[in-house]
Amino acid sequence: MEIIEILREASKRIYENVKDLPGTDKAAGDFGLGAGGDISRNIDIIAEKTVLDYLKEINFKCVVLGEECGRVELSEKPKGFVIMDAIDGSANAVRGVPFFCSSLAFATENKLSSISDGVITNLSNGEMYWASKNQGAFYNNKEIKVHKKDPIYKIVGINTSGASIELINKLQPIFEKYDHTRHFGANALEMAMFARGLMDIFIDLRNKIRIQDIAAGYIIVKEAGGLLLDSNLHQLDADLGYETRVSFIAAANQEILDEVVSQI
Ligand code: IPD
Ligand code: CA
Ligand code: CA
Repeated sequence: MEIIEILREASKRIYENVKDLPGTDKAAGDFGLGAGGDISRNIDIIAEKTVLDYLKEINFKCVVLGEECGRVELSEKPKGFVIMDAIDGSANAVRGVPFFCSSLAFATENKLSSISDGVITNLSNGEMYWASKNQGAFYNNKEIKVHKKDPIYKIVGINTSGASIELINKLQPIFEKYDHTRHFGANALEMAMFARGLMDIFIDLRNKIRIQDIAAGYIIVKEAGGLLLDSNLHQLDADLGYETRVSFIAAANQEILDEVVSQI
């Protein structure tokens, strides 16, 4: 079975197992601090268990790097890493806001740049985004590309949740220049939507993004033809560590990148 098919099946199983939970008391159950540093909710635990059970069922030889469960070695001779954010946008999921997803990626080495496959499923409706290295990015069964044409409305995604006042002040010219800035509360799904051409740029300069938040989005954005840079405008890369935090700018083309970056 191809790795992408394994990730797609795991993602599909998450959707089946959690689709009735959003907004319920059952979703919210508190399981204490997870490996990623946030409180693990019952919906997070159910979704992660779904993936771990499936990978064990098919005897997939890998190391899982889960946002809640931490590092789980499923084999002594692993083929690589499954980077798992089983529920991205947990606050939305717990409150019942229909914008959250699962994010699963596979990397052969301890680096973001070694990611070969990624799948993001919108868990409010089951829509799936996926990509494999050099094979393009897909939304359900349709190939997707970032938005290359001059858009009718420029949509500028900016994650400002919990941002410092210094960062907000730095970004202020962008809020003034663009009438349509957006943040929906699930970074991975926002990257997938950016890859599909629904936003022209997506910026997160808070230095809070974990490897699990970005792993699947990384390959989907690249395969859809997007630029993916760090805060110094270098190619984004990072170690797959639990301490790693990144900032990034995903841009549909050089023109929108230059235009927005010139504001800050
Ligand atoms: C969070 C979401 C959110 C972003 C946070 C992440 P989680 O992930 O991606 O959009 O602002 O930085 O931690 O905790 O819901 O998996
Ligand atoms: Ca996350
Ligand atoms: Ca999560």
